[in-house]
Amino acid sequence: MEQHQVLLQFFNLLNEAIATENFVKLSLGNYQGNESGLKNIYVRPTLIKRKRMLSFTYRYQTRDIFKNYAIQEGIKLLEQLVEQDFKICTLFTVDEEIIIEQQKKGQFRLRKKELAKPQQIDLSHDKAKQRLIKPAGKDYLHALKITDAEGNVFKNAQDKYRQVNQYIEILHSLIKELPAGSIQNVVDMGSGKGYLTFALYDYLHHQLKLNAKVTGVEFREDLVALCNDIARESKFEQLDFVQGTIQNYEVGNIDLLIALHACDTATDDAIFKGIKADAGLIVVAPCCHKQIRREMEKHKVRNEVSFLTQYGIFMERQAEMVTDGIRALILEYFGYKTKVFEFISDAHTPKNVLVVGIKRHAPSAERKEEILVALKNTKAYFGIGYHQLEKLLGM
Ligand SMILES: C[S@@+](CC[C@H](N)C(=O)[O-])C[C@H]1O[C@@H](n2cnc3c(N)ncnc32)[C@H](O)[C@@H]1O
Repeated sequence: MEQHQVLLQFFNLLNEAIATENFVKLSLGNYQGNESGLKNIYVRPTLIKRKRMLSFTYRYQTRDIFKNYAIQEGIKLLEQLVEQDFKICTLFTVDEEIIIEQQKKGQFRLRKKELAKPQQIDLSHDKAKQRLIKPAGKDYLHALKITDAEGNVFKNAQDKYRQVNQYIEILHSLIKELPAGSIQNVVDMGSGKGYLTFALYDYLHHQLKLNAKVTGVEFREDLVALCNDIARESKFEQLDFVQGTIQNYEVGNIDLLIALHACDTATDDAIFKGIKADAGLIVVAPCCHKQIRREMEKHKVRNEVSFLTQYGIFMERQAEMVTDGIRALILEYFGYKTKVFEFISDAHTPKNVLVVGIKRHAPSAERKEEILVALKNTKAYFGIGYHQLEKLLGM
């Protein structure tokens, strides 16, 4: 590819990311220009008086300088900076990292990497963060005691409100990976008090304008009654909560399955139902990993790393990693592209890992065989007789 074509391609991607509001940030490094002390420039989108602009942070050896530019003005400036002054520039979109590197004078190389964890866009200016779920005029947020009647978030509900928004922001970028309009049936397994179920319904219906049916499955009768009352009062006609266990829930069509903090093997029950229903997107935030921990403690395999698990906390973390690693592997076996990432700061909760499966094509027979071997070896290495999900699927 001709060199100016590579630059052109990079700027097309930048322009597209800005236009589709997927632009997260751009970092310019390895400065070769003449300005003394300048090391990097960071660019991100910002909202000033409701107008989108580009905010530049010029990082010098001893200070930072901030400047805001209108989009076109900022891009023009960047064209010169990328071509002439900075040898390596990385564009972060919501789900990709695009790197342009000048290897020799005028010789550019472009690389792309898919990000394991969807990035969040921060348009804050003076820290006024834009949220997908705005608090004003939401009866359900008031009923769930997150806001007062005027839509002000209670001080003691700030963390919950932020968490709900983080979930929705993550789902927002995951849903974009699915064919448009493919979300018609959503099931939230172990929906609890329904914070996320309501917010997801609100987001799907009022922002994506989808007439999706959303069902919360919950064991506790009192929570089911409460949530159904709030759904009725909010006139969320396609939202319904059913009392029962995840294990006994009869699945029909499911396009999106979520299970957030469903205890221990309830997460496996939920993933199992999602796989059986051939759900396009499965999103689980596992909680307590007792089944695998019990297996590891029961069989006490001795090997070169056994010393690690003599400490309770490491045993717990090991059990968590092994449980969720195997879940991801099994999802891959059944044709899901998988992602595992931390979704909120562990200052809020230590249960902060999301396991995501996005339905793709079935893996090759060779890859399936590799997965089965990896599963067998992992179980032997950690002294695990069975993994609940594997058992449910009869693998
Ligand atoms: C920790 S709460 C999480 C609630 C909600 N998903 C959230 O993240 O805010 C777990 C919920 O799952 C429910 N639950 C646990 N195991 C279940 C099962 N096997 N079937 C149905 N509900 C279950 C519990 O009653 C509880 O309300």
